[in-house]
Amino acid sequence: MSLLPLPFTVHFDPTNQELLLSGKMRPESAAEITDALKLVQQSLEKYSGVVYVNVKRLTHINMTAFAALADILAASSRIRPERKIVIITSSVVAWSTSLFQTLAASQPSLSVEVYDSAFYPGQSFVEDETFIPILRTQTKMTWRHERELLPRHGLRSGLVIADICCGIGDFAALVQREFKPARLVALDHSVRSLEYARRVAADFDLQGIEYTYGDASQMLLRDNQFDFVTCRHSLQIFNRPEMLLRELYRICKPGGRVYITNEKNSHCLGEPHAESIKWTYEEVAKLFKHFDMDVEMGPKSRHLLADAGFDNIKVDSFMVTNLDGDPQDFADIIEAWENVYAGEMAVRRGDSSDFIRRFRQGFKDHVFAALHPKGYAGWPIWAASGRKPL
Ligand SMILES: C[S@@+](CC[C@H](N)C(=O)[O-])C[C@H]1O[C@@H](n2cnc3c(N)ncnc32)[C@H](O)[C@@H]1O
Repeated sequence: MSLLPLPFTVHFDPTNQELLLSGKMRPESAAEITDALKLVQQSLEKYSGVVYVNVKRLTHINMTAFAALADILAASSRIRPERKIVIITSSVVAWSTSLFQTLAASQPSLSVEVYDSAFYPGQSFVEDETFIPILRTQTKMTWRHERELLPRHGLRSGLVIADICCGIGDFAALVQREFKPARLVALDHSVRSLEYARRVAADFDLQGIEYTYGDASQMLLRDNQFDFVTCRHSLQIFNRPEMLLRELYRICKPGGRVYITNEKNSHCLGEPHAESIKWTYEEVAKLFKHFDMDVEMGPKSRHLLADAGFDNIKVDSFMVTNLDGDPQDFADIIEAWENVYAGEMAVRRGDSSDFIRRFRQGFKDHVFAALHPKGYAGWPIWAASGRKPL
């Protein structure tokens, strides 16, 4: 049994007849969440009238947990059709409303209410639409490096490829255009990002990319079907990266390769004002850790791939800098980081205004370094891949 605290909580508030589920429910089997399920069942058995099931603060749920929860809710509605169950979801966590609405459609006493104003710590930051411009510029800057590196990691034309956690789909679009795969599936669980990706593909008249909705930690994709599986900047935002890596391994063909990119944020650098920049990015790493994300993962890639069973592991690192193309592009990325990290995440963590002022200063100094005619600003990234043994 794990001694780690569970990454989710389930609590019943009798005053409001409300079950509150929060955090990340990603069990490997329903047995892992027995206590939570028992509490849901008992609360539903005990209370009449309306019982609220509040999932506003549930940032993740995998299919194992959802299926177990859905069974209990559906069975309880069948047994006591006069008692109403209202599921409260949030529009901020894009997947939750549609998932629970499908369930509610099957039972007349179940309904869904959507709350708009809530905002949660953690992954919702990187799924928010405000992140779209950053992702686009980031991919534009990293592509210069990755286009050169990818063939070394086994990418060539004519392969069957999956890009898991594809975000707004720009990397998939670049791969489609330059590497002409036989098939390309791009999967993400952000409905808004996928809509955006499809719109961009249509605008650019790019055909053939299969943008697919799905949970990367439990994909509905068959085993052993892709020659090349990519997962960029995403393992580092999972609280259980090994679970995601297992899925990447599963869908990869024996002899095929899985390619991952991750950062080490505390090693972002710049001159002048090196000290202030260094302090801020060390704080960035701590801030993400607070929200259960490891943006220091880059150099751990070799270890992660080896533990997941890959062989022939290759690791590269590269530095995106202000000298790659237009320095303003890099400055835009840094400003967007400042907005999300200092303007939203630090505020959610409850940081003091003094801390936030100093935290912001490091980003401003990084922008200054990026735009200064003699300045230098960098952002290090690790690109690694491993082969699934034959
Ligand atoms: C930091 S973004 C990276 C996006 C893209 N790969 C890139 O490099 O620009 C992380 C992405 O992972 C997606 N994601 C997070 N958890 C997921 C899950 N359980 N299943 C599928 N996608 C997920 C998010 O929606 C987001 O698009």
